[in-house]
Amino acid sequence: MTYKLLFVCLGNICRSPAAENIMEHLIEQASSDKFAKSIVCDSAGTSSYHIGSSPDRRMSATAAKKLGIKLHGRARQFQESDFQDFDLILAMDQDNYQDILLLDPTGQYQTKVRLMCDFCSKHTLKEVPDPYYGGSEGFNQVIDLLVDACEGLLTYLRSLEEC
Ligand code: 4NP
Repeated sequence: MTYKLLFVCLGNICRSPAAENIMEHLIEQASSDKFAKSIVCDSAGTSSYHIGSSPDRRMSATAAKKLGIKLHGRARQFQESDFQDFDLILAMDQDNYQDILLLDPTGQYQTKVRLMCDFCSKHTLKEVPDPYYGGSEGFNQVIDLLVDACEGLLTYLRSLEEC
């Protein structure tokens, strides 16, 4: 069985592709772990601003420098069918969270949608801040928060598997 994760931000060029690629990196590192291998990752944006674009160059450069990973993927917009297609939908901030829930007016998928920072154990920030209009510190902070959250997410998913 596969467990499908969808990481969601606004543009799908900075935070969510970084989250997707960091999670894939952790899964690759856990190569002997059969459960980790069953996790599938994707990402999307709540907006249509950057559909088809590669990850932001500043985000890619920061991921390469801090983690030695290359970000892949093309931006797409979150769509209603994602509610059925994914087991867990991780929103980067409150705006993303609310915009996702607006597409589920009956609330039937609400329990699938979580804030990414809920899985952090080392950082206390409740949202992954939007780095797009800021400087390099913002991109560094995104990577630090996402590594913490992805590690916590993997631990959480393993605990589900053990139940
Ligand atoms: P992301 O960052 O949501 O982390 O991909 C942004 C990318 C683009 C814009 C805003 C945030 N924008 O306004 O174009």
